[in-house]
Amino acid sequence: MTILVTGGAGFIGANFVLDWVAQSDEPVINLDLLTYAGNVQTLSSLEGNPQHVFQQGDIADSELVKRLLTEHQPRAVLNFAAESHVDRSIHGPEDFIQTNIVGTFRLLEEVRAYWKDLQGEAKDAFRFLHVSTDEVYGSLAADAPAFTEEHRYEPNSPYSASKAASDHLVRSYHHTYGLPVLTTNCSNNYGPYHFPEKLIPLMIVNALAGKPLPVYGDGQQIRDWLYVKDHCSAIRRVLEAGRTGEVYNVGGWNEKPNLEIVERICGLLDTLRPRADGQPYAGQIAYVTDRPGHDRRYAIDARKLERELGWKPAETFETGIRKTVEWYLDNWQWVENVQSGNYRDWVEKNYSGRSA
Ligand code: NAD
Ligand code: TYD
Repeated sequence: MTILVTGGAGFIGANFVLDWVAQSDEPVINLDLLTYAGNVQTLSSLEGNPQHVFQQGDIADSELVKRLLTEHQPRAVLNFAAESHVDRSIHGPEDFIQTNIVGTFRLLEEVRAYWKDLQGEAKDAFRFLHVSTDEVYGSLAADAPAFTEEHRYEPNSPYSASKAASDHLVRSYHHTYGLPVLTTNCSNNYGPYHFPEKLIPLMIVNALAGKPLPVYGDGQQIRDWLYVKDHCSAIRRVLEAGRTGEVYNVGGWNEKPNLEIVERICGLLDTLRPRADGQPYAGQIAYVTDRPGHDRRYAIDARKLERELGWKPAETFETGIRKTVEWYLDNWQWVENVQSGNYRDWVEKNYSGRSA
């Protein structure tokens, strides 16, 4: 048996592939376009390992997807591939429409054709697992209950709108064609190999480089944080035992305002890698112009996943954030390698126009 993963050179997909190979003998085919967010270096420990087959390419390339499905006959396809950064979707939504909507559609079409021709047990056991986000549910008031799977879709950014559209396509392929799909909607992830454009890795990298720590608006926006390895274990569990056609919310019960996250990172660095001048890293915090349309609060109710499939996160925020900061300190070469000219152009584009 074999699985096909898309986007397996990105942050969550690569963590998933690395964990999969460490825990199972089953081969994994990894289809990734290697955009700015994809990094083969993250997968370097798998070089020469026949259990991992890497293919650079686009999920929207129907011929390529068809060839991979025919050649490898996977028992499951897991779709991680996406454009994933809200700020980039504000500066340029088109890539989000192309990959998240058109790409998911083309992938679904090829998977449907492949699945239709499977027979017997292979057909019954096949799964298409779509990895999505809590951002499709929109923004919560301070006192509102956390998002359940029944919460209506109210996406507010081009990113979340494109993910919402992809979720709807996946749902429709189940209802219309009977494709055995599973969808997971997860809260904000953090952990190793996180590209330093997102809040947590950006703050670690900027702090160590002596740069400002740009907090958008008042820093009181709330996100619900989950250690990436816990997200990967949830996906494995849903793949194994989830009911087809169902949606499972994944979260860590770790709601925190952004400012608290940044201060926590500063505190850890003060202990683990004190500044040469002995001053606290928190002195680098800089309040900057807010993100347009910034969602105020996300919170995930993950009780369905716990009740039906017995999944629980292994890390608390305290243990997960310490592991994450330590990982960045121990893997500085990875950080330096991903900070290409392309990365520097992005930092200039996103931050130069934000007044302090
Ligand atoms: P990421 O941006 O780090 O990685 C995305 C990967 O997809 C990259 O390797 C990129 O090269 C690849 N890719 C992009 N376009 C492609 C295409 N057309 N064809 C093939 N590959 C393509 O993203 P991530 O943070 O790892 O997120 C993975 C998935 O999880 C996404 O679907 C995202 O919406 C979802 N998600 C992310 C979070 C989070 O906090 N990061 C939370 C919940 C859900
Ligand atoms: P991010 O990591 O981009 O994830 P998302 O927007 O998908 O939740 O941002 C997390 C939070 O941190 C979000 O409220 C925006 C905020 N933020 C900053 O305050 N400064 C920054 O430089 C970045 C990248 C994010």
